[in-house]
Amino acid sequence: MSTPIGKTIARILLEQESAQSLENKYTPPASLGQPACKKDTCCQWYWAANVMNAAFFGKFGRCNSLAREAVRTWSQKLASQGKDFGGADGRIVLTAAEIQRAENNGLQDIVDQMWAWSAQFGVGMGDLIQFDAAVAVVTCPLGPRMRVFVGRKDRAKAAPEGLLPDVNDSADKLISLFRDKTISPHALVALLGAHTTSEQFFVDTKRAGAPQDGTTGVWGTLSYNPTLGLGPLPKEVFRFPSDIVLAKDVRTADEWKSSGSHGQSHWNEDYAFAYTRLSLLGVNNINDLKECTKVLPMPKLNFKGAGELLKDQ
Ligand code: HEM
Repeated sequence: MSTPIGKTIARILLEQESAQSLENKYTPPASLGQPACKKDTCCQWYWAANVMNAAFFGKFGRCNSLAREAVRTWSQKLASQGKDFGGADGRIVLTAAEIQRAENNGLQDIVDQMWAWSAQFGVGMGDLIQFDAAVAVVTCPLGPRMRVFVGRKDRAKAAPEGLLPDVNDSADKLISLFRDKTISPHALVALLGAHTTSEQFFVDTKRAGAPQDGTTGVWGTLSYNPTLGLGPLPKEVFRFPSDIVLAKDVRTADEWKSSGSHGQSHWNEDYAFAYTRLSLLGVNNINDLKECTKVLPMPKLNFKGAGELLKDQ
């Protein structure tokens, strides 16, 4: 039997109900650590959201590198979903082994930050990783305000290796890797739009800091077109081989093209659906989760200069 929250989440996963919300009616009953705050599930998350929002806010009103690392913590959710360990359970932080893997290069700062926030707010690591990714995305100008659920159980067993995508993998391998985790090619394209905010440091170390579209730290659809070689491509932009093969593959090419042209709100909703699915991989107690969307910062719906090359975050 599903609980009301279980039914809500099922409807979101079936895309029958939006994965975004502007609900923000919430006043914390007390400050962090007070008994009244401890009694209210969303209270500690309210205080956490305030601190994270400030930490993710970058120069010129954009989101900064810590925010981008938070968005990228998607990677640990992929591994071993469906087994008795794995998924969105906080492992990337809780096990020393996972963060040392090459696929997780660049995530060290956010992992250190997670330890500090987990202690400060008294929250579980699996929830914290998902929650801070949602705060990070909504801190980026134009980013969606995705619904957040808390109550995951943490596990500290490392996932098997080889379950994460590599930047040099073929389209076949990437598509089947994500399909295995119930992420369709369509959802994968939506998720990869996150490279709109990203910078690379380890793929080509000589070009450390090179962005994947012209507007690092802004949540726009611009990264789809540069990958296709369409539109203006500032020389600073570094295209990932994995994005290039998926932009061309017959299973993903149409969606890639239309994501660049369908507009921001269409992509934001697709991203929110796909990310919600990702954030619940391997979570076996969905009926017991609680929704705390109301504590998130409100989205920034406009950004002047979204199409210009903006660096320096
Ligand atoms: C086919 C799957 C994917 C591959 C092969 C891939 C690969 C990469 C690589 C190589 C980097 C640069 C790391 C570095 O050199 O510093 C990166 C950065 C990033 N990726 Fe992906 N990625 C994939 C999927 C995703 C997804 C699903 C998301 C979000 C939901 C995402 C979000 C990000 C973000 C935000 C960054 C920037 C981190 C920063 O600026 O510090 N990626 N990705």
